[in-house]
Amino acid sequence: MKEEIFFNHEKLKIICEDALSTDKIPDESVDLIVTSPPYNVDIKYNSHDDKITYEKYLEFSHKWLSKCFKWLKDDGRLCLNIPLDKNKDGQQSVGADFTTIAKKIGYKYHSTIIWNEGNISRRTAWGSWLSASAPYVIAPVELILVLYKKDWKKNEKKESDITRQEFMDWTNGLWAFPGQSKKIVNLNESFQNEIKAA
Ligand SMILES: C[S@@+](CC[C@H](N)C(=O)[O-])C[C@H]1O[C@@H](n2cnc3c(N)ncnc32)[C@H](O)[C@@H]1O
Repeated sequence: MKEEIFFNHEKLKIICEDALSTDKIPDESVDLIVTSPPYNVDIKYNSHDDKITYEKYLEFSHKWLSKCFKWLKDDGRLCLNIPLDKNKDGQQSVGADFTTIAKKIGYKYHSTIIWNEGNISRRTAWGSWLSASAPYVIAPVELILVLYKKDWKKNEKKESDITRQEFMDWTNGLWAFPGQSKKIVNLNESFQNEIKAA
């Protein structure tokens, strides 16, 4: 992974480094971490092996979750987007395992948001089709685990500018909107290449 601060301007800094080794984020400095880590589903990343054993995947997750814990302020929060479970190459309870690991590290549990992506149409695995012998149960949802370090209530008094409707919508623990499609990602990539070439 390239080691550098990629962008730095006024209040925005983009750091392009390995989360496990970077020293560019001071401890106890972060209010909110929102992350969608690798899912270990064999996506071809440039710098990360996304097809490791489930045990190694949980070890890796324990390491970066521990780093995040150090970076958070006492009233800092972590919103972690992960799959509910894993259905390929052996069923696994991904959401439950991440919650257990996070609690062992010291995070406190706040809630789990269920994100209904509605992607059941992409489903290909049925197990034993039309038979009770070994059917697969597959939920078209992902999770957003909401965890925090010590205090859920924010210590600093600041003005909230959320609208009534936004507050009602986002505190409802069932979200329903489509996820990013590969088509859109590819479009974005070709758009970025065009900008670079210009
Ligand atoms: C599921 S993707 C998230 C993509 C992101 N939500 C987005 O829309 O671009 C996981 C990301 O974690 C990155 N990653 C993997 N290992 C990492 C590490 N050790 N440090 C920092 N990032 C890492 C991968 O390169 C990949 O971009």
